[in-house]
Amino acid sequence: MKGIILAGGKGTRLYPATWACSKQILPVYDKPMIYYPLSILMLAGIRDILIISTPRDVPMFKELLSNGNELGINIEYKIQEAPKGIAEAFILGEDFIGNDSVCLILGDNLFYGNGLSKLVQSCSNLMNGAILFGYKVNNPSDYGVAEVDENLNVLNIEEKPKNPKSDIAVTGLYFYDNSVVKKAKEIKPSARGELEITAINNLYVQEKNVKLKILSRGYAWLDTGSNKNLLNASNFIEMVQERQGQYIACLEEIAYRMGYINKAKFVELGNRFKVSDYGRYILKLAEEI
Ligand code: G1P
Repeated sequence: MKGIILAGGKGTRLYPATWACSKQILPVYDKPMIYYPLSILMLAGIRDILIISTPRDVPMFKELLSNGNELGINIEYKIQEAPKGIAEAFILGEDFIGNDSVCLILGDNLFYGNGLSKLVQSCSNLMNGAILFGYKVNNPSDYGVAEVDENLNVLNIEEKPKNPKSDIAVTGLYFYDNSVVKKAKEIKPSARGELEITAINNLYVQEKNVKLKILSRGYAWLDTGSNKNLLNASNFIEMVQERQGQYIACLEEIAYRMGYINKAKFVELGNRFKVSDYGRYILKLAEEI
């Protein structure tokens, strides 16, 4: 399975913070936002990853993550010239995806919770259909919203509905079979001029080929859409890390624990950041595990 992180957009709701750089470069507490979605792909065992961003921002992501080889993964980059919608990721990523299935994660979606690694690993062998994740929220109108029957079969998904049929938001983590590329070419832009991911998801709904997995209350799915949400997300990460002494989305730790890199590389990467808490965390961990 291939992985795509879509880190485009202008982040206008965060202006001026995002006037000169991508929203997904901004820190969530102690690390760039994109570390969080990247960590989810790495935990799923996905090692071939495409990062899609704007002409302005791709160079900065390249500087941050390079080709990923130091983390034992392969990262490629693709430019999205204009914000034409999430589903365009599959058209831009067609060659990269090849004949594989693909996991798409939005660059501003943060997930945290016990069992998440196992959950995403179990999805990474998907060959047929789509797997979506639902999360109960207070403000469903801000998201894609799933209409479901009593057995949680998805009947329909509506993008940012004024009168939502449920409070189950469809999160920005999606697993698809290879037909997603064809589907992305079939759909037409929405009223706001975007190829909507919801349109793709509804094609799978029509085929009765969607599994909706509910992320229960024990999971955190954090919003980073406004300044206040971003601060709350930072505070959440800080609070958990401080309390437990375990970092969320430490890419070097994940690479080492997943067996993508050896101990010597792990220590080398820790030394690179040894003047920060993040680097010291890696070096301390290297003595323990
Ligand atoms: C996008 C999708 C929406 C989804 C959300 C998750 O919305 O269109 O269906 O629920 O991501 O973060 P956006 O926030 O990019 O407008």
